[in-house]
Amino acid sequence: MVSAVEAGRARPELGATRFADVRRFASIGSTNAWLVGQARQGAPEGLVAVADHQEAGRGRLGRTWSDRPGAALLVSVLLRPALSAERLHLASVVVALAAADACLDQAGVVPQLKWPNDLLLDSRKLAGVLAEGVVEGGQVRAVVVGLGLNLRWPEDPPPDMAAGGISLDQRVGWEVDRDRILTALLVALEPRYAALADEAGQAAQAGEYRRRCATLGQVVRIEMMDETFTGTVVDVTAEGHLLVDVGTCLRRVTAGDVVHLR
Ligand code: BTN
Repeated sequence: MVSAVEAGRARPELGATRFADVRRFASIGSTNAWLVGQARQGAPEGLVAVADHQEAGRGRLGRTWSDRPGAALLVSVLLRPALSAERLHLASVVVALAAADACLDQAGVVPQLKWPNDLLLDSRKLAGVLAEGVVEGGQVRAVVVGLGLNLRWPEDPPPDMAAGGISLDQRVGWEVDRDRILTALLVALEPRYAALADEAGQAAQAGEYRRRCATLGQVVRIEMMDETFTGTVVDVTAEGHLLVDVGTCLRRVTAGDVVHLR
C-alpha cells in the first residue's frame, strides 16, 4: 500500500546523474515491486524509489525483508542496462559497490562483499541487494535493483537482523543521515553503471567485485533448496556464479545461501 509519495525533491548533487528523480514514500509494499510496475508502464531508466518502511519488503530467494520504520535505507533503482543475459548480474554488482562507496564516504567504514551481493561489517550483514528483471516479449527490458542497508539498530530488530545483522550506528557510534547516504550511493552509482556500457568497463567493475569479495578463498557451507554442502570457493565466474571446490570436483552455484566457515 502506497501511503505517501513526494516526487522530485532531488539534491543538487544528483542533477549530474541519471538518478535525479527520487520518489519518497512513508510506507509502501516494496520499493522493488513499485518500480517493477513503473518499468512495465515504460518509466525511464534512473527512476529511484525510497521508503521509510516497507510492508511487504522482498528479499533474495523469495524471502521477506522486514524493517523497522526509519531504521534502514530502503531504496530501489530502475535500470535498463545494455548487457547480455550472462552479464546482467553486473547491475547488482555496481549497486553493491556503490553502497560500499557510500558507507566509506558517509561513515568512514569499508564493508566487505559477500557473494552474491551482501555487504558485511565484522562478518555481520549490513546490507542486502535484490535484483528483479522485467521481462517483456521474452526479453529483459529493465532490471530493478533494491538495497536494504541498516543505518540504526532498532529497539526491537526483526529476527533476521537480530540473528546476524549489524547497523552502521553500531560500528561508528552515531546515526548516518539517510538522505546523505542515499545521495552518496546514487552519485557513486552513476560512473559505475556508466562503465557497464562497454567490455572494458564491465571487466573493471567485475574485477573490483572479485578483489573485494570476502567469499573468494573461503571455506563455505552452501545451503540450497534441496541440498547443503561444504567446500572452498575458488572463483566467481563471468556470469557471477560461484565455483566451489568440494574435493572431488568443482561445483557451480547459481543461487543459494553461503555461510563463511573460515
Ligand atoms: C536480501 O535478501 O539480502 C536482499 C534484500 C533486499 C531488500 C531491499 S529493501 C529495498 C528493496 N525493496 C524490496 O522489497 N527489497 C529491496
